[in-house]
Amino acid sequence: MYKDSVWQAKMRIKIDFNNMMHDSLGEKGIELSELEAMSPLLKSASLRMAENRHLMKWRDLPYTQDAVIEEVLAASNEFGEFENFVVLGIGGSALGPIAVQHALNHPYYNILKGSVHNRPRLFVEDNVDPEHMAALLDVLDLKRTVFNVVTKSGSTSETIAQLLIVASMLKERIGSDCLSRHLIATTDEKKGSLIKIAKQYGIKTFYIPEGVGGRFSVLCPVGLLPAAICGIDINEMLAGAAYMDKLCSTPDIWHNPAYMFALMQVGALKRGCNISVMMPYADSLRFFADWYAQLWAESLGKRFDNENNEVFKGQTPVKALGTTDQHSQIQLYAEGPNDKVISFITVEKFDFDYQIPNLFPLLDEVNYLADKNISELLLAERLATEIALTDAGRANCNIIFPEITEENIGEFIFLYEMQTVIAGYFLQINPLDQPGVEAGKIATYALMGKKGFEKEADDINKYSKEKNRNGRII
Ligand code: PA5
Repeated sequence: MYKDSVWQAKMRIKIDFNNMMHDSLGEKGIELSELEAMSPLLKSASLRMAENRHLMKWRDLPYTQDAVIEEVLAASNEFGEFENFVVLGIGGSALGPIAVQHALNHPYYNILKGSVHNRPRLFVEDNVDPEHMAALLDVLDLKRTVFNVVTKSGSTSETIAQLLIVASMLKERIGSDCLSRHLIATTDEKKGSLIKIAKQYGIKTFYIPEGVGGRFSVLCPVGLLPAAICGIDINEMLAGAAYMDKLCSTPDIWHNPAYMFALMQVGALKRGCNISVMMPYADSLRFFADWYAQLWAESLGKRFDNENNEVFKGQTPVKALGTTDQHSQIQLYAEGPNDKVISFITVEKFDFDYQIPNLFPLLDEVNYLADKNISELLLAERLATEIALTDAGRANCNIIFPEITEENIGEFIFLYEMQTVIAGYFLQINPLDQPGVEAGKIATYALMGKKGFEKEADDINKYSKEKNRNGRII
């Protein structure tokens, strides 16, 4: 899968971090000497990367999935005949599939079914808003729909509730024996309720390997199956990830994008940039900002460090879109509190471009745009924003895609997964757990009366009574 060719090197994504450095940015920038002084931190982070390698099985995904890929491709043929493929999942079980689909397929992919492609339409239902769910079910013909239920833990309330609703509807409308034809499960091989249900009904199942946490799961069947169903070349995505893995394995930080990027982000955080904005200048990448928000927030937002000291670490991810948010958030970024680091994402070559017509040659107010490509305007806007932010002393960097392909989407995913964990180790916290998310899941089980959570339910009752006594609702 891994292709180490000159072409590949030319196609790879690059990071311009000039405007994170002191010589271009001033006060908020990182000094070269500081980078050198960080070498003990680098050593301890690499050590933790090595020690905890077994907890990061997502790093093996580009190399170990030959059989899985075969099975995914077979399933994408078998279920490719359905009109609709619906992912039921939340968090890491949904954000990756959404981001990949939007990055690599036509923005109106679902509408183009029948005229441009003959693959299933893709829907991802990642909430339990009853109106939204009803609205989705309104537009689906259940007989022509397959539901991919995705949950790593196998027990998340939202996903299990969706499954129960959909399964009972399927039984009622199509017949009690239809579940194995209309459901696919993607879950842990041993844990949780989904695997039990899948076994009972003979539902086709894909496994999320151990050591692949929800937010690191897009390159396993969680993301690969929906992508393959929609005609995305998953082998190329994995080849891109493998290529990035090679780059990120070099000990020289000047050639290791993940270490360098993590150092820059943590350096900015130490200088008070508590907010990290991802701002793609490409609509197709806007959902990667959602994916990133989960990865960065859940991995780095931690109360305790590795020595169990209370540290309250983290950096708040914010999503923005260029140029749209230049007319919304940029005023704040340029002149508000200097507490943000902005990661632009630039695409050098789009699949399609418009040349702006010279419709009013005598009208100087508009003719400066004439004969230029619309992508030139987009790129100019981004550069203008970069310059304005740099002049205002705001930390920023630029991730450059030569173009958007399966391979460099794979590179991008792997780069961000790696740099997130490395940043976590620089911050001396555990980037691989999510106790805050688990606490929410437990409280939900208690509130909804799940067996085994009686003590939590009592605590919640006390909390509610106390709150009612206090009033203070106007
Ligand atoms: O990254 C994580 O582990 C979480 O955010 C999960 O993705 C999310 O809670 C959904 O969990 P599950 O896939 O177990 O249903």
